[in-house]
Amino acid sequence: MFRTNTCGELRLANLGQKTTLAGWVQRSRKMGGMTFVDIRDRYGITQLVFNQDTNVALWEAANKLGREFVIQVTGVVAERSNKNLNIETGEIEILVSDLTVLNESKTPPFTIEDNTDGGDDIRMKYRYLDLRRNAVRYNLELRHAMAFETRRYLDKMNFLEVETPVLIGSTPEGARDFVVPSRMNPGEFYALPQSPQIFKQLLMVSGFDRYFQIVKCFRDEDLRADRQPEFTQIDCEMSFVEQEDVLQIFEGMVKHLFKYVKDIDFADAFPRMTWADAMKYYGSDKPDIRFDMKFVELKEEVSGHDFVVFDSVPYVAGICAKGCAAYTRKQIDELTEFVKRPQIGAKGLVYIRCEADGTYKSSVDKFYTNDDLKVIADKCDAKPGDLILILAGEMRKTQKALCELRLEMGARLGLRDKNVFAPLWVIDFPLFEWDEEVQRFFAMHHPFTSPKPEDIQYLDSDPGCVRANAYDMVVNGVELGGGSIRIHDSQLQNKMFELLGFTPEKAQAQFGFLMSAFQYGAPPHGGLAFGLDRFVSLFAGLDSIRDCIAFPKNNSGRDVMMDAPSVIDQSQLDELNLVIDIKN
Ligand code: AMO
Repeated sequence: MFRTNTCGELRLANLGQKTTLAGWVQRSRKMGGMTFVDIRDRYGITQLVFNQDTNVALWEAANKLGREFVIQVTGVVAERSNKNLNIETGEIEILVSDLTVLNESKTPPFTIEDNTDGGDDIRMKYRYLDLRRNAVRYNLELRHAMAFETRRYLDKMNFLEVETPVLIGSTPEGARDFVVPSRMNPGEFYALPQSPQIFKQLLMVSGFDRYFQIVKCFRDEDLRADRQPEFTQIDCEMSFVEQEDVLQIFEGMVKHLFKYVKDIDFADAFPRMTWADAMKYYGSDKPDIRFDMKFVELKEEVSGHDFVVFDSVPYVAGICAKGCAAYTRKQIDELTEFVKRPQIGAKGLVYIRCEADGTYKSSVDKFYTNDDLKVIADKCDAKPGDLILILAGEMRKTQKALCELRLEMGARLGLRDKNVFAPLWVIDFPLFEWDEEVQRFFAMHHPFTSPKPEDIQYLDSDPGCVRANAYDMVVNGVELGGGSIRIHDSQLQNKMFELLGFTPEKAQAQFGFLMSAFQYGAPPHGGLAFGLDRFVSLFAGLDSIRDCIAFPKNNSGRDVMMDAPSVIDQSQLDELNLVIDIKN
């Protein structure tokens, strides 16, 4: 046997036992005639002892071991005199009688320890070494556990895992496609799926009833901390369901994962919030409800006091930061700078301090008397000691800025604890979203989402007010998943394509097969997809989903280890019948 135990396994109960271990040299310490070497594998670290007095040759060999050498040792388990209770094997050590160097290692470019000295770039270039670190390995173990528990739950619920193709035709889901040239069909391209959306709907037409897949999706979009160009979905679809059925089954799945992976029980049903309320009270379709600090609309209260900033805009709203009246000038200036950053875009910030004696101090007290300010403070439910922060402007833009300010205040006040989880469903999304730039409607979710039956009558007259049977699962301000009840009627689907600006020819070319399938008995169906990467990072408390992906891309979409994307050989281009002509 190559090894009899792992490096994380031996305890006092194994004293006197002969053991063979294999692993990497974490570090070694020479203390007089004794050399201590920590050997590491996936399971843990064990201390090895080499004693000059017992075996000089062996001791000398141990002194030559470098970091990350791969070794195999045989020895006897002994009790340590100097115990290290921070590690699980810290009460024992191995008195080594045999050492084989299985492979030497160059000095690694950074130390492979929990607190490494390696920066992001170098760790990504040598990702295979980074993955030896506990923190990164833990995230992948967690990912495995979550994928495993997902399969266990969905299997119990009768879902079938079905694979769908990766080389497909282009299907619009809001992002750009990655495309792959076809050698056998010169000048033609496959697209990589942004999600298996159409295939899972076709599987419902085929009668599969309950489908799921843990599947790679590809989107050529701008990257952020919670976005990768290739990411993984837990993708699901069900037949003969209404929205309520889907929410029940998947609330069950989320609770199952919390219970079996995090040991957290959610006894109560997850709260539900309409999209309209999410926007009104939190300025976001993914509200972080770990803390309150809801928006209070103040347009009526602040108007008519000759303060042009408030009088000239359609929307004024504030938040009440409890206990922050003592914020200094400097702190308020910081917040003002924060909201004025280009990516947030507010013009300025108005504050009202609620003093202990019941009076108010404000940046606008030239325009508002103490009584006027009291009316505002009362509406915000502000008490002495609180600070009201107010933004004004065009509604959606201002809501977005106030949302950022609310999150910033939540963070400053320690209200966004990563160990607290606040899930909710956001429901009743609008069916369409108006794009000012191109002056047309887009599907807010995707073109297969069904309108609420009671709103279908407004499809022609007022498409902007039509609500969809669409829902998102949000936890701690992160959109973990989303889905909808689909259109299963080909006429209604055609109508949607028309409203989205597809000509009948274009709709036929892109979705003819789906429209045709819908003419052969499509059952009512619906589903959703969770982002597995986001789910794992939420559970692990990570700031970026990159840290739970074995080989992620950087912010420019590059794999710095492989150095991809890269140019390809002329011979490959010739085979593909492609000529490269890069336009700047
Ligand atoms: P949607 O586009 O909302 O829906 O995606 C579902 C979930 O996938 C995750 N996600 C991402 N994760 C990491 N990087 C990305 N670039 C990325 N984009 C999306 C999010 C998101 O909630 N076919 C539909 C689902 C359906 O209707 O059933 C879909 O893909 O967590």
